[in-house]
Amino acid sequence: MKDQYYFDNAATTWPKPEPVYQYMDSFFRSHGVNPGRSGSLLAVEAEQMIFTTRRLLAEFFGFAGDPNRVVFTLNATDSLNTALRGLLSAGDHMVISELDHNAVRRTANHLERDFGVSVTRVVPDSRGFINPSQFESAIIPSTKALVLNHASNVVGTVQDIHAIAEVSNKHGVPLVVDTAQTAGVLPIDMSCGIDVLTFTGHKGLYGPTGVGGLIVNEDVHLKPLRFGGTGVDSASAFQPEGYPHALEAGTLSMPCIAGLHAAQEWFAELGAQHDAKDNSHQALCTAAMNHIHHVEMAHARSISTHLSTLNKVTMLGDIDVGEHIAVVSFTVDNMQAQQVAEMLDADYHICVRAGLHCAPGVHRLFETAEIGGAVRISPGYYTEQQDVEHLLVALTELLG
Ligand SMILES: Cc1ncc(COP(=O)(O)O)c(C=O)c1O
Repeated sequence: MKDQYYFDNAATTWPKPEPVYQYMDSFFRSHGVNPGRSGSLLAVEAEQMIFTTRRLLAEFFGFAGDPNRVVFTLNATDSLNTALRGLLSAGDHMVISELDHNAVRRTANHLERDFGVSVTRVVPDSRGFINPSQFESAIIPSTKALVLNHASNVVGTVQDIHAIAEVSNKHGVPLVVDTAQTAGVLPIDMSCGIDVLTFTGHKGLYGPTGVGGLIVNEDVHLKPLRFGGTGVDSASAFQPEGYPHALEAGTLSMPCIAGLHAAQEWFAELGAQHDAKDNSHQALCTAAMNHIHHVEMAHARSISTHLSTLNKVTMLGDIDVGEHIAVVSFTVDNMQAQQVAEMLDADYHICVRAGLHCAPGVHRLFETAEIGGAVRISPGYYTEQQDVEHLLVALTELLG
């Protein structure tokens, strides 16, 4: 038996590609200075690495504008707070959905309760898909944001981003897309009509925890969430308006950005081995993502097929209907999800996630909120066939 069988990649991918660990360590040792805060060669080189990472991420997400519009934050939650609080003011209206993670849900709830913003919450169908017309009919004259959960972290359903972008475009309402579960797994092109794209570094992008970001289209204005030092325009009494400084106050997590940088290069190298259509960063990464998604879905399908044969198990959603990412959730008759996760961990060294997964709306939809949520299994690119086999044996022994 291995020390650990990790099936919680929807929470954070682990392990990371080896070059990510190596580059974080080497860059931090060689350039452990404060980027953008001094003219020394080391600080300038650190700043260059950060700018290159912005450029790589802009290409990765098909953003053709100024790479300085790629703003670094702490994680997806920070990015979504920056986007939503930056877009909405008292009297405005926004549309979210019951699929949203608390990063959106709680931010919207606070905007509603504390800041006079009104919120419509679209309810997906019984499998976890949203019909774009539901977003369209929720739009009213004061709507200032449509927020799309690109893929659910509970049932893995992927929404039709192009159709919802069309709705947003037709009505001139900015579209904010939460790509926490899809960035690095499904190719996303901002030019399809996304106005603000939020991402986190530690999931499918294979970077470390502690860094995320958002990409803000040039015609979108966000009020800054925080104010403070930027290393530029220090005499100015107020936050500079130019990007990225308008939204980046304080020292950035340079070692984590170095990790994201190495992860971007890892994607490109992986794509070069998997039929990239040309040598551009976006094409190389698209090929890598197609390969990663294929590998992960093969694991997810064998897990889901096996679970469906166990009598006591009820699946949330159906991985074979519509587009999905590699997330499989289920409940077990007469057992709390937490109990199942604890037994898998204690007896089989298998790490999964049980509970509400910070997305109580989805559990209300599947009627699993009252029973303590569900068990979620999420394989990743580094999941091995033998890990899946071990998991299937464990599930049969425990639940068969
Ligand atoms: C869909 C979705 N949005 C947002 C988040 C929040 O991500 P972070 O923890 O990086 O802030 C998560 C994390 O699980 C998520 O799955």
